[in-house]
Amino acid sequence: MSIEITVEHTKNKKEKPSSMDGVVFGTQFTDHMFILDYDAGQGWHDARIVPYQPIMMDPAAKVFHYGQTIFEGLKAYATEDGRVLMFRPTKNIERLNISNERMSIPEVDPELALEALRQLILTDREWIPEGEGNSLYVRPFVIATEPTLGVSPSRQYKFMIILSPVGAYYAEGINPVKIFVESKYVRAVPGGVGMAKTAGNYAAGLKAQEGATELGYSQVLWLDGVHRKYIEEVGSMNVFFKINGIVVTPALNGSILSGITRDSIIQLLKHWDIPVEERILSIDELEEAHKEGKLEEAFGTGTAAVISPMGELNWQGEKMIINEGKTGELSAKLYETLTGIQKGVAADPFGWTIEV
Ligand code: COI
Repeated sequence: MSIEITVEHTKNKKEKPSSMDGVVFGTQFTDHMFILDYDAGQGWHDARIVPYQPIMMDPAAKVFHYGQTIFEGLKAYATEDGRVLMFRPTKNIERLNISNERMSIPEVDPELALEALRQLILTDREWIPEGEGNSLYVRPFVIATEPTLGVSPSRQYKFMIILSPVGAYYAEGINPVKIFVESKYVRAVPGGVGMAKTAGNYAAGLKAQEGATELGYSQVLWLDGVHRKYIEEVGSMNVFFKINGIVVTPALNGSILSGITRDSIIQLLKHWDIPVEERILSIDELEEAHKEGKLEEAFGTGTAAVISPMGELNWQGEKMIINEGKTGELSAKLYETLTGIQKGVAADPFGWTIEV
C-alpha cells in the first residue's frame, strides 16, 4: 500500500453511552475520524486519523450547491471472545467506487479504504457497544470541496469516515414496521442515480417520508418512476415478499440500490434451498396475493435496518396487514442467522466477516 495513515489521538475522550437503550440511530459519534484529501494533479493524499471535530469548508464548495457526494454504511461488531468483526467491507468499498463512478468522483484505492476502516475502527474499538442488536455503524463518504460554482466535476474532494455506536434503526426494533406505498412522488428513474448511494436520492425522498410519518408510517415504499407500478425499494432498505412459499425481491434495474444485506439474504435463502426470485413485482400482484391469502411475509433488508419485518402496507388507503402484523418465521430466522454471523456466534460458511 502506497499511502501511510497518520494518527493523532484525541486529548479529550468523550463520554460513551452507558447503554444503547433509547439512543436514537446516528446521534452519537466516536472520538476519531478518518480524512483523505484529493486534488487534481496530486490524486488522493494525506490519509489521517484525527480527533472527531467539525471541518472547515468554503461556502462555495460544490457539494453544497450541486450535491456531488456519495456515502456508504457498514457495521463493525464486538464478539463475545473479544474480537472485532466487519461485515463484508470489501462489498461496501466496491459499491463506494460504483457510486463514485456514477457521480464523476475519482476512485478511492480499495486497499487504502479497507486499511482506513480497519485502523479507525481499532482506534475507537472501545466504542463498539455490546448487547443484542448493537453495533458500530461506519459511515464512509466523499464530498466535492472545490470552491467554484461552475457545474463541472470538482477538482478537490475529501473522503472521510465517521463512526457511530447504534442499536436498532427503527423505534420498533425487530418488531414489524408499517410502510406507506408512495403514489405521488418517485425516488429514481431509469438512467438516473437510483443505484448510487448519493445524498440526492435521500433528500428527494424526504417530502414523501414526511407525509407518511404524519399518517403514522415508518417509511415509504417506492414504485418505479415510469409506470408507477413496479416495486423498487424503501430508501433505507431493499424489500422481500414471501408469496405462496416463494421469496420475491425486485430485480436490480439500475434505479434500485444494490444492497449488501439484500445480497446476503439471497445467498442465505439459496443455501437453505428456499426458492427465491429476483424479478419485476408489481403492486397489483402484491395486492392480489394479499387478497388471496398468499402474501405470507414481508421484510426489508439494509445495513442500518438489518432485517425489518413489514406488518402493514398502505396502498392508496387500503391496508394490507401481513402475517397479522407479526414478525414472520422466515424473517425471524434470517435475523437470527445474519446477526449471528455478524457477531461471530454462528458459523460463517460464506466468509463474510473480516477480523479487524
Ligand atoms: C444503511 O443501511 O447503511 C443506509 O445507508 C440506510 C441509511 C440511509 C440509514
